[in-house]
Amino acid sequence: MKKLFAVLGDPIAHSMSPAMHNDLFSIYGMDAHYHPFHVKRGSLEEAIKGLKAIGIAGFNITVPHKETIIPLLDEIDPLAKSIGAVNTVVNVNGKLIGYNTDGSGYVKGLIEEFPLINDKNVLIIGAGGAARAIYFTMAEAGVRRVDISNRTVSKAEVIVEECPYAANSNVYGMNEAENILGEYDLIIQTTPKGMAPDSFELPLSLHNLNRDTFVSDIIYNPLETKFLGEAKKKGARIQNGLNMFVFQGALAFEKWTGIFPETSRMKANILTQLG
Ligand code: ATR
Repeated sequence: MKKLFAVLGDPIAHSMSPAMHNDLFSIYGMDAHYHPFHVKRGSLEEAIKGLKAIGIAGFNITVPHKETIIPLLDEIDPLAKSIGAVNTVVNVNGKLIGYNTDGSGYVKGLIEEFPLINDKNVLIIGAGGAARAIYFTMAEAGVRRVDISNRTVSKAEVIVEECPYAANSNVYGMNEAENILGEYDLIIQTTPKGMAPDSFELPLSLHNLNRDTFVSDIIYNPLETKFLGEAKKKGARIQNGLNMFVFQGALAFEKWTGIFPETSRMKANILTQLG
């Protein structure tokens, strides 16, 4: 029987996951379908009951449900539990098990182009959900130093305090971080600044950027944010958010099927969707 997979979110109409996963099911010859479902805030519990009743094989969870899904699942992977957010669910014999592949997807996508992260000094800009997932994943992996800079410093402090994995970390406001940018081997931009309608804005100035620093932005639309453009002008190597999106999806696909899929094909699929 055809297996059903899904993504639940609000909004969901523009999700690029269905075409990406359906293409994988087709190339691997699997009788499966991935469908987007528009689920509003108050309807998540009912939606999960329905999906369980019809025997859904697995699903992704996106905004605004990544945190509220947790009490509705049967088991949560320890890293996802500590992050406090789930983006991937697998149905194992009727039990729904939650994982977070956002942080691990980021790191796996990063090391394709910037290997050996453990002895590096890292700065994460922003303290939202994506920053938290990336911070926890890097702390768990034992990266030497992971600092966070954020407009609201207290939010960065909460991430560091709540992380169960010991990490060497300082938190900064944006101006303080601007002054010490040259100390970092890797800078990860996780705020929405740079996405339309903020496309011409920077979360912080790059005047002290060192050309040996690798600069990454988790935004993939546009593919080159102003932040990445400025970093490139300074001679730094850059990476956009396409790899994070593709690798979080690849890790979800692997949890559902046991196959780690061809990420170059997934990237091409997303680039086609972006037009
Ligand atoms: P996520 O989807 O990862 O949860 P988000 O909620 O869209 O991310 O973004 C949250 C982060 O972007 C926060 O760090 C936020 O800063 P505050 O904690 O000070 O609110 C940051 N952010 C959002 N808009 C910003 C802006 N215009 N300038 C600087 N930082 C901004």
